[in-house]
Amino acid sequence: YVIGIDLGTSTVKLLLVNMEGTVVQEISKEYPLIQEKAGYSEQNPEDWIQQTISGLQTLLRQFDGNVSDIEGISFSGQMHGLVLLDQNHQVIRPAILWNDTRTTEECREITESVGWDKLLQTTKNIPLEGFTLTKLLWVKKNEPANFQQASLFLLPKDYLRFRMTEELQMDYSDAAGTLLLNVEHREWSEDICHVLDIDINLCPPLVSSTDNVGTISKSFADTTGLSSTTKVFAGGADNACGAIGAGILEEGKTMVSIGTSGVVLSYEESGKKKFGGKVHYMTHAAPDAYYTMGVTLAAGHSLSWFKDIFAEEESFDSLIEKANDVPIGANGLLFTPYIVGERTPHVDSTVRGSFIGIDSKHEMKHFTRAILEGITFSLNESVDIFRDNGKQIDSIISIGGGSKSNMWLQLQADIFNTKVIKLSSEQGPGMGAAMLAAYGSGWFPSLKECADSFLHEQTAFHPIQKNAKRYQVLFQQYKSVYQSTKQINT
Ligand code: XUL
Repeated sequence: YVIGIDLGTSTVKLLLVNMEGTVVQEISKEYPLIQEKAGYSEQNPEDWIQQTISGLQTLLRQFDGNVSDIEGISFSGQMHGLVLLDQNHQVIRPAILWNDTRTTEECREITESVGWDKLLQTTKNIPLEGFTLTKLLWVKKNEPANFQQASLFLLPKDYLRFRMTEELQMDYSDAAGTLLLNVEHREWSEDICHVLDIDINLCPPLVSSTDNVGTISKSFADTTGLSSTTKVFAGGADNACGAIGAGILEEGKTMVSIGTSGVVLSYEESGKKKFGGKVHYMTHAAPDAYYTMGVTLAAGHSLSWFKDIFAEEESFDSLIEKANDVPIGANGLLFTPYIVGERTPHVDSTVRGSFIGIDSKHEMKHFTRAILEGITFSLNESVDIFRDNGKQIDSIISIGGGSKSNMWLQLQADIFNTKVIKLSSEQGPGMGAAMLAAYGSGWFPSLKECADSFLHEQTAFHPIQKNAKRYQVLFQQYKSVYQSTKQINT
């Protein structure tokens, strides 16, 4: 067996997986967000540890095998969150998370001091409030006493792994989200540290996601019941692990994940391409690989927002089923999903969403259809960026909540104008983490062979040409809405 631990933003999910790739046990434990002020989003790292311990205890209590048969453990983690440690490796302040937006000023400072070209050349990404470096600079400026005490920073799942192994490391896929990594050369950027007066010794040793970085410490084994012979593999960023869990392991493979946010992610075999910061470009958790990624901030969130406000009693299934009766284009109703701002392609935290073309004959089902189309149009903007950069997209693997409905999957095939594939069982980033442990434990000669054995295609949805044509026209209308609504903001 192996265990994949997905340290998410609201829960830690533990998957016990056997050699066939079957999830034999699954445990989730929640922890709170601390939101002291508007835009702030923090978590207490000790909550991650205690809930993981409690999850492991439950999992092992229910496990009827031998703990020494659990060969490996690996991780997937929420990206970017800043965990600051002092000299004794004690946590200095609560972790500042990826969805904390207090650092707009620091983004500006980074762009001004480092310069756009240097940033893109080194980090491959543009500064966003989510990225770790902005948080580090914020603490430096606003909490100098805390910054003074800092001897090292980690990302969330690295801190969890540290508590399990007593080893301090960060893997490349997560390090790419700090904005301090030279992504192509896989080393901390001395230049960026120097320009921003950050001591490079604050950056932890770098490892590959598949590296065996230690074993379970005696004290962690005693507390949880795990065996101290179980090998620990570094693990990766949640998006990179989600990609592994969907088999995005060779050039030409692209996935769309529709959860609270939406992601379009594509495999890149080289770190030398140029996307001009239009999409994220990061080190993959698969050996020597990279990935590009566009993000729709409120994908599933747009639909759940709508349901909570206007159709609380109704199930998602029934809402979507009714929207299926409405023709393409929702009888002239158009929705942009910018309800919490937008990342790709606009990088605009102040724009807000809109319904355009409301008619007195429109009913609930038209609004639902417009939302499903609007979310998918937004994701199609990322697909378009990939295509504009010469990427061939012949099929897309769809995962997350958006792949639960055949109607939405067909809509994706029609809007993306390509084959959309649903997997037969899909476990997201936790499965990617388990696959890193399975590969690391020597079960397969490559991650690709692990994916071939663990993941299976269930259904393929092909674009219906008449629909795809119609959507191409509607997509142009959708794209024009941003320019005329960006002034209307909060
Ligand atoms: C990626 C990002 C999110 C977090 C969520 O840039 O901010 O997807 O990784 O956990």
